[in-house]
Parts: sequence; structure tokens; C-alpha cells
Amino acid sequence: MRSILVTGLDIGTTKTCAVIAELSADPRERNDLKILGVGQAPTSGMRQVVTHIEETTESVSAALKEAELMAGVVVDRAYVGIAGDHIHGCVSPGMVAVTDEEVTLGDLERVHKVARTIALPPDREMLHAIPQEYIVDHQGGIKDPIGMAGVRLEAELYLVTCDAAAAENVRKAVQRAGYRVQELVLEPLAAARAVLTEDEKEVGVAMVEMGAGTTKIAAYYEGEIRHVVILPMGGSTVTSDLVKGLSVPFAEARRAKEQYGVAFAQLVDPQETVELPGPSPGQKRHVARELIAHIVEQRLDETLCLVHREIEEQGLVDRLGAGIVLTGGASSLHGAVELAQQIFAAPVRAGVPGEGLTGLADSVGRPKFATAAGLAMHGADRYRETGQGATTVASGLYSKLGSWLKEFF
Ligand SMILES: Nc1ncnc2c1ncn2[C@@H]1O[C@H](COP(=O)(O)OP(=O)(O)OP(=O)(O)O)[C@@H](O)[C@H]1O
Ligand SMILES: [Mg+2]
Repeated sequence: MRSILVTGLDIGTTKTCAVIAELSADPRERNDLKILGVGQAPTSGMRQVVTHIEETTESVSAALKEAELMAGVVVDRAYVGIAGDHIHGCVSPGMVAVTDEEVTLGDLERVHKVARTIALPPDREMLHAIPQEYIVDHQGGIKDPIGMAGVRLEAELYLVTCDAAAAENVRKAVQRAGYRVQELVLEPLAAARAVLTEDEKEVGVAMVEMGAGTTKIAAYYEGEIRHVVILPMGGSTVTSDLVKGLSVPFAEARRAKEQYGVAFAQLVDPQETVELPGPSPGQKRHVARELIAHIVEQRLDETLCLVHREIEEQGLVDRLGAGIVLTGGASSLHGAVELAQQIFAAPVRAGVPGEGLTGLADSVGRPKFATAAGLAMHGADRYRETGQGATTVASGLYSKLGSWLKEFF
């Protein structure tokens, strides 16, 4: 018996998170993914992109080692997330003549090749080419054209490109930690994999993942990705506002935000005060919780209004029947869903990983783990499609490695 393991690695602005999961060998549990281990380490060498390779490598190494220890396994590769405002997404069409009377796999491969052929400068790298729909002899909306009769096959692919140097630096940081990058995956696509349902994607939904340094939007309708954008603001922007508004250091401001922050000031009792550190060591002062809420709300309102504008500009407003799903660490703020409901005037829910996960699924059941969990789920999807990309270990070795690891640490 072999164990088939997939690993997700999310290198965020504030933390690196690794998730190790096992695919079930039982065909009845084909779609389930068993979480074995989760590891976290703070990051300092990231500012949307890798700015310091050594520091990022250390963080990657620490997160993966922690996940390996918890899982009792050693992995050799990972599906690694990438984000930043250097990401660009666009729709690219392609058209070919059908060689026989009906569409074959060969035709499909050719039309993909045509649609993928865009003028890509040497400083850009192609991350994803995702089919949105096929058109056979002017009949659109086709998901699987193989076997269909026709003379002309068209495809629309959603292409995602990134800065080639940014991608290379992520690979370098991971490789130096001793792991292989199996695939670089756009972070919002991974997070969406973890928190959206197939029904929501069909009806139309925008996932809004609010991290520390970035807010990412991934919009879907008719089951396919339609638009991705990454905005350069997130939870750290809120913390910076609190630093100024409350005159406290960054770490204190973050603690106050996470402990007392509310994104919808109406939810706070105007009489309530909270204790914060005073100007000199040992001193305390009382601050109205409503003040904290006002500062938090103002910035979150601005961020979500930018998201709303982006959705409007892309003509998506009428296509998002299932509304908005909020996730990412900064969406943990109490009242974030209520604020978003007001801004979008649409259904809003909080998205946490859990669906389709077993084992230690609780360990990833928080919005800040959406990307890392989604990366492991994406890896599992890849393995199910291609039979590749996983770490395979003999089951006997599994426990031996586990005990070796436990002794070693
Ligand atoms: N309980 C909480 N309440 C409010 N904010 C929180 C809470 N927990 C985490 N945050 C905030 O979420 C942010 C971190 O989120 P997350 O871990 O998703 O970001 P990241 O992945 O490091 O960054 P990015 O995705 O932008 O690169 C921080 O700003 C943190 O203060
Ligand atoms: Mg993140």
C-alpha cells in the first residue's frame, strides 16, 4: 500500500502556511482529502513579492517542517501560491478548423495552443490557461466539445500571467528550503477552490480574499473563472490606520484590532471601553471601542468599495446571483459580513475551508487558511486528473518516518 500526499504552501505577507493532506485510496471517498498536518511561520521577506530570499526560505522551511512533524511524514514537493499586483488575467480566443467530421482531442489541443499564443514578453510567465467555453459552428456555451459534429471549433481561455522574476524568486526560496515547486498557483484561485461551492460558481459569485497586504477578487459565473484582480491593501492597511489613530506601535495596533476590532461600528455599544497600553511602560489607558470600530470600518469600507467598483467596471454586478464570499485573515473581523452586505446590497457569507476535508480538517477551518488548504485541494485535483504531482510514500515507511521525525525534533 502506498500513501498519496499533496502539499499546499501559501507564502503570504505575514505568514507562511503549509498544509499536508492525503488522498484516500478508497474509491468511495474519492473526493475527500484527509488533512494530516498544518504548519505556520511568520514571514518577513515578503511585500506582495519575495523581497528577501533567505528570510522567505527560512519561513518556508519552518512552516513545512512543522506540518511534516504534525503529519509524521516527509514531503518533497508542494503546490505553491503566488499573488501580487504583477498578476494579469485576460480572455484569449482561439479558432481552428475541425479536421474530421467531429471534434477530437487533437482539435482541442490545437485550439488551446492557438488561444494560448499571445505575445508574451520575456519578463512575463504564463501561470494558467483555463478554458471558459467552446463554440462549435457558432453554437456557444459548450463545456466539452469532444465528439460534437462541426467544421469550426473556437475556444475562449482565461489566461493568467505574472512577472517572471517574481515567479523565479518564489521557486528559488522554496528550492533553497529543499523542496520542489510542483506548480505555481494563483492564490485567489486556490482560496476559491477551498471556500466556494460548484453551485455558487455556476450561479455567479465573487470570492473576496482579504489577506494582510492584498485583497484578491476571483469572480465566477456559469461554472468558470471570469475575472481575477489583486488590490494592494488588506489587514495591515487597517492596522497602520490604528497605529496613527490610537498612537500605538504596530504590534499593539494589530493586537487591538484582532481582539476588539469591529468592521461595522453600529454593532458596538457606544459606552464600551477597552484597555490599551499607555504612552510609558506599565501605563494603561481606556479607549472607546467605538473609536477602534470607526477606524476599522472606514478602511474596510474603502477597500470593499474598491472591490465593488471593480465588479461594476467588469460588468459583473448582474451575474453574481450567489453574491459575495468573504475569506482571508482580515475577513475574521467581527461585522465584516454585515458591512459587505450593506456595500454590495447582495448576499454575503463568510468562507472557511472544510467542505470535502476530513482528518484534522479543524486545523484549517479558519479564513486565513483558505489559500493553503485550497492549494492542497488543487494538488489533489491535479493528481486525480493526471496521476502526478503527489508525494508517494510506502505506508510502512510512513510510520517509520514519523517516529524518526519525532525523535529528530
Ligand atoms: N481574528 C482576527 N480579527 C481581525 N483581523 C485578523 C484576525 N486574524 C487575522 N487577522 C488579520 O488578517 C491579516 C492576515 O491575514 P492572512 O493570514 O490571510 O494574510 P497573509 O496571507 O499573510 O497576507 P496576503 O494574503 O495579503 O499576502 C492580518 O492583517 C491580521 O491582523
Ligand atoms: Mg494570503
